Amino acid sequence: MIRNMPKPPLIVGNWKMYKGVKETQSFIDQMMLAPLPSEKQIWLAVPFTAIGPAVQAAKGRLVIGAQNMHDASEGAFTGEIAASMLTELGTEFVILGHSERRTLFHESNTFIHRKVKAALQSGLKVILCVGETEQERKEEKTKEVLKTQLLECLKDVPEEAFTKISIAYEPIWAIGTGKTATPEIAQKTHRDIREILESMISSKAAQEVFLLYGGSVKPENASSLMKQEEINGLLIGNSSLKHELFLKIIHFDQS
Ligand code: PGA
Repeated sequence: MIRNMPKPPLIVGNWKMYKGVKETQSFIDQMMLAPLPSEKQIWLAVPFTAIGPAVQAAKGRLVIGAQNMHDASEGAFTGEIAASMLTELGTEFVILGHSERRTLFHESNTFIHRKVKAALQSGLKVILCVGETEQERKEEKTKEVLKTQLLECLKDVPEEAFTKISIAYEPIWAIGTGKTATPEIAQKTHRDIREILESMISSKAAQEVFLLYGGSVKPENASSLMKQEEINGLLIGNSSLKHELFLKIIHFDQS
């Protein structure tokens, strides 16, 4: 296995169903007042209705993305949004396969796979979320579960497209629960994910994929997580909703 190459940290906020246009604008205006580290990539996944205003307010200093999309290019899909509708607004990435989509909206790996293909075809970058339940971890099935998710969601994706894909490892038991995976658990699981990727594409291409950790990331644990060799970034729910907390995480101690 080639050693993981150092990467500029990728810090992503996932706002879920929080913040309308006004709150989005004032959050981003506050962020713009603070110096943002140029060596880190800062991405924000906002609700659909806030994407246009967020892109305007961010002036290219933050990368704005969506949290979901449909795989069809258009059609009779009441309430759904197509990739081209996102790119038209300046959306640069989309989160796919979040466990809330999988659990609450019954999204299967097959459906997520179609979305991944459609997103890449439209020029969107993809953050693909994978993760196991508490029960699956107890039964030592984590690697198997992640392997199935990765193989099915990324089936037939050509190797060169992996430069547009990041994988977010989000243990379901850690999302919104305050229970963070220890840095050691996260590191070990990320190593497993890297190994699975190496079985799908060349080792070099697998090493280049950004692996993000998500699940109760806070200012207090960001630094110890980011010290792990296989953790290249963070996906943050709750703590990305207050600009003070999000900024603290962005400025995590790298010493
Ligand atoms: P959390 O959410 O940080 O609130 O646990 C993470 C996520 O769901 O992406």
